Amino acid sequence: MLLSFPDYQQLASALQGAYGLEPRLFSMARFDNQELYAAIPGHLAGECCFILGSITPPDERLISFTLLSHTLRQHGARQITGILPYLAYARQDKIKEGESLAAAWAGSLMKASGIDRILTVDVHSERDEQLFQIPLISLSPASLFAKEIHSRGLTDATLVAPDSGAVRRCQAVKAAVGLPDADTPYLEKKRTDHGVVHSSLVGKTCSEVILVDDMLDTGGTLVSACEKLISTGVEEIYIFVTHGLFTGEAWRKLWSLNVKHIFCTDTIPPSAQAIADKNISILAVAPLLREALARLETGVPSCPAV
Ligand code: R5P
Repeated sequence: MLLSFPDYQQLASALQGAYGLEPRLFSMARFDNQELYAAIPGHLAGECCFILGSITPPDERLISFTLLSHTLRQHGARQITGILPYLAYARQDKIKEGESLAAAWAGSLMKASGIDRILTVDVHSERDEQLFQIPLISLSPASLFAKEIHSRGLTDATLVAPDSGAVRRCQAVKAAVGLPDADTPYLEKKRTDHGVVHSSLVGKTCSEVILVDDMLDTGGTLVSACEKLISTGVEEIYIFVTHGLFTGEAWRKLWSLNVKHIFCTDTIPPSAQAIADKNISILAVAPLLREALARLETGVPSCPAV
């Protein structure tokens, strides 16, 4: 059965149509004192359940999701898979003295709530796969990006990573496009009290560049990356990110930094504004998830990480 949070109904329809997952209604309400309450009508014992809905907004949805899975498990669900196209908290994956390690915390909450495995798209880092304590199947968006790069005639642009961590993403996209596996240029990045700063470009680019990253949140990383690229002579920039959070307004500066177009996916339901913007394209992840579900059904234990 497929239990989908309301903002994921469109994706739910795309998934259940393909594999006959039975939609199951549930309600998530609050008592007057704001405590959450979940109710799932009908028989649950022995069922194989999929819960669909990203962890965003991060606090309310994490608690709703884990309460829902606990309720399913409590009533005898046999197996629970979380389909969380965007996995919030995954960026908090580094051990720093006196600071929370929220990726591990979120994973242990999920495990304690009876989730058996997570199906997600482009998880932030390989470290998350260890921190989560339950199997994390991360799907690469590279094939979606490659299709767009071909159809927009961008195959001559240089793919650049905005930091060293994004190099493997760039390489996956290059492979999907069919480009030679040459060195991938990347920018050296550090975070200061004033935000993200890119100090230098490692490698060479042509005047047309494609930046590939896992997410555009405030846009601070990409704004700084574009400033650096412009200073080295880059004239046209295209941005491909998996998760388009578009938090706040600072990211809009990208339009004055030679950025011609932003491509993101619908792992997070796009805002009406993003949909209406002709310079933003939103690529559907339903085909990736459908294929992954088919592989789960046929017993292939996991899909390769990005
Ligand atoms: C950082 O390591 C991530 O891959 C992203 O580059 C970053 O978190 C994006 O956040 P923002 O858009 O706020 O700079």
